[in-house]
Amino acid sequence: MRKLKPKSYEYIENLSSNENQNQLKARENSEKLGLGAISLSKAEAQILQFQLLNTNAKKVVEIGTLTGLSALYMLEVLPQDACLWTLEKSPEHAQMAEKVLAEDIKNGRCKIVVGDAQEKLKELSAQGPFDAVFIDGNKAAYLDYFKWALENTSAGALIVADNVFLAGAVWGDQSLQRFNDKQVRVVNEMNELAFKSKNLKSVILPTEEGLLICKKLS
Ligand SMILES: C[S@@+](CC[C@H](N)C(=O)[O-])C[C@H]1O[C@@H](n2cnc3c(N)ncnc32)[C@H](O)[C@@H]1O
Repeated sequence: MRKLKPKSYEYIENLSSNENQNQLKARENSEKLGLGAISLSKAEAQILQFQLLNTNAKKVVEIGTLTGLSALYMLEVLPQDACLWTLEKSPEHAQMAEKVLAEDIKNGRCKIVVGDAQEKLKELSAQGPFDAVFIDGNKAAYLDYFKWALENTSAGALIVADNVFLAGAVWGDQSLQRFNDKQVRVVNEMNELAFKSKNLKSVILPTEEGLLICKKLS
């Protein structure tokens, strides 16, 4: 999806240190799968880190692990006694993620949950409430993920969703990438809910993909 990386991204990314070995491996693996463009860019991952730091999050859920890149970025800023549950449908993706996340898995800071996120989230509720949820999985299920996040997070929690522009499809431009009617309707409904919910303060950062960031007020 990240088809035209703006020059501003390159500029921002060059200001900070290079990605570490595991982050580079995760990126390389997603490239090998032909999915390099759907991983967070370095600049987007840094925005996510910044938001997590501001939330003092300890219990975090990610929906959509891919090869573990965004999970690595989140774990980098989470405290030692934090836990990230990252949900992934594809066993192949999960296996690749397991390798780069091995240290955090061993230390109990990360758990990869393999299966359909909507099913797995039901089971995960028992471990809640959570401090932060990062939504980056099946676009047609974004509204359900978002509602789950609203119900299973504590006051002050952070809810972030990536790709909320659907490459322009949410305002009717399907020239970059085609999405089906359900995906467009669901993501629009989630964005509307984020802005009309009285117990949320929401913003969409106008990144290339659109990054929805919500703070739960109560
Ligand atoms: C955009 S990628 C995630 C990128 C990752 N967060 C990163 O930035 O490195 C989306 C991932 O969600 C997974 N996915 C798709 N549908 C899913 C579902 N129903 N349940 C769980 N994971 C799903 C895909 O297999 C893919 O690995």
